Amino acid sequence: MEQRVTALYFSPTHGTRAYVRAVAAAIPGEHREVDFTRPEERRKEYHFTENDLVILGVPVYYGRVPEVEGLLDGLHGGNTPVILLAVYGNRLIDDALVELSDLCAARGFRTLAAGSFVAPHTFSAKVGKGRPSEADLAAAAELGRRAADKLSGAWEPPALPGNRPYRDFQRAPFYPEGDGSCTGCGACARACPVEAIDPAAPRETDGEKCIRCLACVHACPTGSRRVEAAAFSATVAHLEEALTRTERPPELYL
Ligand SMILES: Cc1cc2nc3c(=O)[nH]c(=O)nc-3n(C[C@H](O)[C@H](O)[C@H](O)COP(=O)(O)O)c2cc1C
Ligand code: SF4
Ligand code: SF4
Repeated sequence: MEQRVTALYFSPTHGTRAYVRAVAAAIPGEHREVDFTRPEERRKEYHFTENDLVILGVPVYYGRVPEVEGLLDGLHGGNTPVILLAVYGNRLIDDALVELSDLCAARGFRTLAAGSFVAPHTFSAKVGKGRPSEADLAAAAELGRRAADKLSGAWEPPALPGNRPYRDFQRAPFYPEGDGSCTGCGACARACPVEAIDPAAPRETDGEKCIRCLACVHACPTGSRRVEAAAFSATVAHLEEALTRTERPPELYL
């Protein structure tokens, strides 16, 4: 029987998705894809056995797994092997992989392999520009191949980077809103992974719900959705100053 391979990701600006797909493409089997960026997909229930293989990717936010309530609640593993991906904006992943591995263990998954990969930073496309490169995608494919090979024998989870307790969240003080050029098209509300935009009033944002992922900014066809705060410009300037000189390579954990 062909192995069922499930490629699962939370990816507001699609960097994580690119890597999850590259890992999945290197693994033989019957493939399906689940987009946990969509709230309606997260509300469904997904059951797995030890004969499944899951690839799960998230972006790193503040060195952690994104603070999305019940992010993995729909997942039910049965001693299911999982390949974990932390995709980040060329700073650090800090504790994201250990946190993701712990969350998965609590839901019946066993970490088979993991990797960290750079994608463009949500707050500035100059940081992580051009990633994934061909070398990045080759590393992602290597992760998929080596994880599949590992699965053919008795295996142990890899040692992962990061600490427990995990570092504190430092939620950014800014979030995007629409300006006077908003046409009310609703694309931003449809793109928002946490339903922080009311489709009836799409210029506004629920700042408590908003995770600062900027999916709405990317989705807005008129450039109406923007972050105006001075704190955002200062953060962008700092990121561009600190993170554009060196390119961090992919790291694989097997
Ligand atoms: C709120 C927030 C916090 C972030 N924190 C980090 C971080 O701690 N380290 C880092 O390297 N990148 C960080 N990033 C950048 C993202 O991890 C990176 O851009 C990632 O590729 C986004 O994934 P996506 O394209 O799948 O949405 C952060 C982005 C956001 C929106
Ligand atoms: S409102 Fe916030 S959470 Fe929703 S898409 Fe925009 S930045 Fe992301
Ligand atoms: S996507 Fe832009 S134009 Fe469309 S409703 Fe949202 S803010 Fe307005």
